[in-house]
Amino acid sequence: MGSFVELKKVSVLRDDKKILDDINLIIDSDENVAIVGPNGSGKSTFIKLMICKIYPSYTGNDTICRLFGRIKWNIRDLRSMLGIVTNELEYAFHSDITGLEAVLSGFFSSVGIADNCVITKEMMQKSNDIIELLDVSFLKDRKFETMSSGETKRFLIARALVNNPKVLVLDEPSNSLDITSSIKFHSMMRKITTSGTKIVLVTHLVSDIIPEMNRFIFFKKGKIFADGKRGEIFNSATLSSLFDIGVKLNENNGLCEINIA
Ligand SMILES: Nc1ncnc2c1ncn2[C@@H]1O[C@H](COP(=O)(O)OP(=O)(O)O)[C@@H](O)[C@H]1O
Ligand SMILES: [Mg+2]
Repeated sequence: MGSFVELKKVSVLRDDKKILDDINLIIDSDENVAIVGPNGSGKSTFIKLMICKIYPSYTGNDTICRLFGRIKWNIRDLRSMLGIVTNELEYAFHSDITGLEAVLSGFFSSVGIADNCVITKEMMQKSNDIIELLDVSFLKDRKFETMSSGETKRFLIARALVNNPKVLVLDEPSNSLDITSSIKFHSMMRKITTSGTKIVLVTHLVSDIIPEMNRFIFFKKGKIFADGKRGEIFNSATLSSLFDIGVKLNENNGLCEINIA
């Protein structure tokens, strides 16, 4: 098992402002976690730390920033441990790539397939299996430019899953999805958690949260505002303080929503 991320006294400074301020946190690699906070609370910056894209601003003797027990990783070694899908990644892909090609590119950690890439039968089989699992086989030969945002996201998630990562990190996955697509997305995340990969979901929308998530980490103004089990902190009172507005949390058949109280 072991830890996925271990952070101690981690701060990130930009333009003389602490955008992450004294973060102390351990996430184990067998946890499904929801990281929730308002816009600008530091969630995406936290993801950049988690994927070694940025490093802590101060590295005193007591600062710890480890990923799967190690301080530095090269991206190729990391891909079998960690899958990541952000909105930035979606913009990085050319619109004329097909769904299947996008998924195959996960084996090479590239945003497309270079001419010198050798695609094995096993790679093809694995890609098709995951495309099937995520219910997008009917779209696999279509180009990204002809797909909706929800559809391209599914292929990017399939791309992240080809390397059997222990943990899949999703940053605001339902951004720009309509209600039907969000619900489909919800059941897809549930399927992934039962297939053996854990999900760390980062969102400002409680409607993204799935019942399998039992640990909640709330970010506010660059700090951890609350961290605990679902039953302890996922409630109307804590969410109202998190978002600075009175809200009521409703849970219905595994779907969550908040309304102004
Ligand atoms: N490279 C940067 N330079 C300056 N400010 C930044 C940079 N990256 C993020 N910020 C600021 O840090 C804060 C947190 O950003 P971010 O981590 O993207 O929040 P979230 O993902 O929760 O919306 C925001 O106020 C944002 O403007
Ligand atoms: Mg963000």
